[in-house]
Amino acid sequence: MSFPTERLRRPRAKAFSRRMVRETRLSVDQLIYPMFVCEGTNQVQPIETMPGICRYSLDVLLVEAKKIFDLGIPAIALFPVVSGSLRSADAAEAYNPNGLLQNTIRALKKEVPELGLMADVALDPFTSHGQDGLTDDVGYVMNDETIEVLVKQALSHAEAGVDIVAPSDMMDGRIGVIRKALDEAGFIHTQIMAYSAKYASTFYGPFRDAVSSKNLLGKGTKETYQMDPANAEEALREVALDLEEGADMVMVKPALPYLDIVHQVKTRFQRPLAAFQVSGEYTMLRYAMDQGALSWPQAALESLTCIKRAGADVIITYFAKDIAPFIKG
Ligand code: PBG
Repeated sequence: MSFPTERLRRPRAKAFSRRMVRETRLSVDQLIYPMFVCEGTNQVQPIETMPGICRYSLDVLLVEAKKIFDLGIPAIALFPVVSGSLRSADAAEAYNPNGLLQNTIRALKKEVPELGLMADVALDPFTSHGQDGLTDDVGYVMNDETIEVLVKQALSHAEAGVDIVAPSDMMDGRIGVIRKALDEAGFIHTQIMAYSAKYASTFYGPFRDAVSSKNLLGKGTKETYQMDPANAEEALREVALDLEEGADMVMVKPALPYLDIVHQVKTRFQRPLAAFQVSGEYTMLRYAMDQGALSWPQAALESLTCIKRAGADVIITYFAKDIAPFIKG
């Protein structure tokens, strides 16, 4: 037989064939769009470090959410931005039944009932120090005391009608406690997406600009509860625990620099897996595309395809709205 026996370039030679042998396909069905909601009316506040992303007041958000639904995007992840006066040491605003997020959930469920709604369970939008939990005298984020507040917050979201509660706080044991509380209150269909392998990442920088927690956090870090970027085995233990405790879906976050984790989690557990392409990843690509150094939409499409190829079922991405028209099928 003449050299070479196998020509891997043969199926690559024509577009029809490349299409047929493609192993990974992006679908709009698997995207979640993060959205920031702020107080007031008629507010469209661009976020400086995230070109194309804005904070919207509820009236504008309702219109935007309808557009997202019409693009075929199944769900949005909501992040509230409240004024500093509502922040406190006990984060009581987190579970105010008439808080900004609770009101937003109720209004969205009325206006766009079929759009899936996910909301973070974590205290950072409501604490005076910007940490995700309650702190003790020396500023350490207390685990069990924080969970008590997270439960109230999760219940207030469920009562407002949220579809998915997404604990992003990284306290130990919170998934089981929240699941039990939801069930006891009759919210058996409220899903839990656990931010299971959430790293203490510098790629959250632009998000912290968006929710105005950067200055509050100051030199404080989240390293006593979020994971060390150097660790992989520990991510598998986090995922195993959250699944045992009743998580319906687990998450790896950030996505692109952590594709090995995405792949290991999918291979090991074979359970619904989300990856969060976080604010810093979005900004990195967006800045490069805006400068013409990388091509739009190719760079965004490639990054999302690769996150899927690594094993993610669902991708939470700030590109969702702009990229949806470029995804076929
Ligand atoms: C807060 C939260 C963060 C993100 C989602 N929920 C930031 C943080 O943990 O400091 C990051 C999202 C992003 O960067 O896009 N618990």
